Amino acid sequence: MGLFDNILKDGESLIKMEEALDFEFLPKSLPFREKEQKFIAEIIKPLFQSRNGRNVVMHGPPGIGKTAAARHVVRELEEETADIYPIYINCWQNNTTYKIMIEMCEQLGYRLVQNKKTVDLCKVVASMVNKKSAVFIFDEIDKAEEYDFLYFILEEIYKKSIVLITNFKEWIATLDSRIKSRLLPELLEFKQYTEHETKEIMKIRAGYAFPEGVWYDPAFTRIAKKTFEVKDIRTGLFLMREAALIAEGQSKKNVELIDVEKAIAKLDDFSIKSSTDLEEDSKFILSIVKEHSGKKIGDLYDIYQKKGGKHTYKTFQRKISDLDKNQFISTKKQKGTGGNTTIVEKKLTDY
Ligand SMILES: Nc1ncnc2c1ncn2[C@@H]1O[C@H](COP(=O)(O)OP(=O)(O)OP(=O)(O)O)[C@@H](O)[C@H]1O
Ligand SMILES: [Mg+2]
Repeated sequence: MGLFDNILKDGESLIKMEEALDFEFLPKSLPFREKEQKFIAEIIKPLFQSRNGRNVVMHGPPGIGKTAAARHVVRELEEETADIYPIYINCWQNNTTYKIMIEMCEQLGYRLVQNKKTVDLCKVVASMVNKKSAVFIFDEIDKAEEYDFLYFILEEIYKKSIVLITNFKEWIATLDSRIKSRLLPELLEFKQYTEHETKEIMKIRAGYAFPEGVWYDPAFTRIAKKTFEVKDIRTGLFLMREAALIAEGQSKKNVELIDVEKAIAKLDDFSIKSSTDLEEDSKFILSIVKEHSGKKIGDLYDIYQKKGGKHTYKTFQRKISDLDKNQFISTKKQKGTGGNTTIVEKKLTDY
């Protein structure tokens, strides 16, 4: 073997298809979520017979295929029929009834939204959807700041199924009783993957992303094990990309255990959710925390206001708490002279 046989040439990469490591990448099939997808399909089925559908709340911890399963059902639905509109909305990005209506119009192909008020947009949506039927999927539903849009759909849309996705099952209890009694959702729990399932999912994903033979066995096994420990497939995708880039940076032609260990060492800096999911104000708050990590929450609020932030302190606190729950930042209580305060720290670098 020549001295330089194992060195990557300029422009060569260990990764064949980098998109396959994106969190948003939707693989052709979703192993180990067949039952859940069937469940969602059953909820929707009455729409095929021009009847009203049922509703479901999907819940479970981060990174275990809830969004992917829902998007899969949408994809199949689109292939199957043009009579049912599939509408998918992330409520963290679109967190008010107005924004949600704008997004719905966009997905329905209605462009004349300028200068229209929320009620007018609702009328447009109702008149379009009521000619057919629709599946409404609201992802990250607990991040919506108001729920009028749910009430509107329940009252004004005749044939629909509503699919709500959240990490927090308890969220349902906080819903307004007007909505709850109309929604009457089934519950669909997403459980964490077993070690075997985690490894299989990672293997398939690696199959998309890397040419064969790039991964040495111990390196891959280590990643699969770590992913199982953390119980989040996103972490696995992050580790695969990082380890490959580390190996690539050293012009290696294979990913070795040492590269994986280095990638794992970076994990603390890693955001479980993608910050592109956040709505503008949370992104803004996150950027302030990153710049002023370690400050008290009250001081951060002052900075937020000086920079043009419009929300009340209470809303700001809630947004900080949401960012914390979803592991973008961390908070800790500290005793001070004037009572307890919260210290807010950045946790992550952007991914
Ligand atoms: N069974 C599976 N097969 C293939 N890929 C999967 C599977 N489950 C999850 N994934 C992948 O893992 C990543 C995270 O999944 P997903 O986005 O669906 O998580 P989630 O449960 O919606 O998490 P969150 O609550 O944080 O939004 C995605 O890239 C998804 O494609
Ligand atoms: Mg999700």
